[in-house]
Amino acid sequence: MKDLLRTADLSRADVELLLATAADFAKDPLRADTALSNRTVAIYMTKPSTRTRLASETAVAHLGGTPIFIRGDDLQLGRGETISDTAKIISQFASALIVRTHKQSDVDELGSASSIPVINALTDDDHPTQLLADWLTIRETFGSDIAGRKFSYFGDGNNMSHAWLIMGAIMGAHVVAATPEGAWAPDEGVVKVAREIARDSGATIEIVHDPRAAAQGASVLYTDVWMSMGDPESQRVEKTRVLAPFSVNEELMNLATKDGIFMHCLPAHRGEEVTAEVIDGPRSVIWREALHRRTTIQALLFHLINGDIKGRG
Ligand code: CP
Ligand code: NVA
Repeated sequence: MKDLLRTADLSRADVELLLATAADFAKDPLRADTALSNRTVAIYMTKPSTRTRLASETAVAHLGGTPIFIRGDDLQLGRGETISDTAKIISQFASALIVRTHKQSDVDELGSASSIPVINALTDDDHPTQLLADWLTIRETFGSDIAGRKFSYFGDGNNMSHAWLIMGAIMGAHVVAATPEGAWAPDEGVVKVAREIARDSGATIEIVHDPRAAAQGASVLYTDVWMSMGDPESQRVEKTRVLAPFSVNEELMNLATKDGIFMHCLPAHRGEEVTAEVIDGPRSVIWREALHRRTTIQALLFHLINGDIKGRG
């Protein structure tokens, strides 16, 4: 597999390899510090980023390479150059392209027109690199035996909810998305793919609309912002009203297992999708989770460039 365009591209074996390598990089970030010597990695983002950008640039540096950060309107793309021509040019200079933008189809097109690995660093539909860091955090916390454990996401049925369901399916986990019904439920096509993957992996996929049911006996309570990058401001009032019952608070945390943790991809809005008490409390693992963005992206770059990622086929 040349690219990581969507979470569903990864096989269980790929994820296991990436998590193992990321754990090695956590012990010694410089263990492959000549892998990208004298080479560059382009990082093109049309949306803001704190973690993904810093993690990616640092990961490239730790592999001995140089990141080239390109802001949305810096390229000639904005003046009508095609995605395909842009991809060919970036492929002539860089060894990989990390891209964050709105449309999944634009990332797919960059992937097919490039000769170098293209990594999806968030689209409106998906966020695969975040899930690698999340599962490294889950693995570190609970080990590899996750039988009987439940992993629940709360809130907007957005890109994070999609990636959460798909990665849970790949990992053979019991994953839950607790979202409102209707406009802010996860995409039905994504749920279908998660269920297809689950048939082979033994995962259980549950979509529920009752936050208490999702929290009951869960080992992870996960949430994300209610307003994603690009969501129209006109939706804010309605989304705030409909999503309010899914806010992760102490009451929901008390329904989790004794060893249950709180996770969030960040950025967070305290008082909206999570209370300050929970996110800044003893069961929150957000800082460790954010730190894992670096080593998981480092592992991904390392193995994609080496051609070690086989994909789900
Ligand atoms: N979690 C995440 O992707 O953070 P940034 O938007 O800051 O990159
Ligand atoms: N759903 C959020 C995730 C940010 C990491 C967004 O797309 O803005």
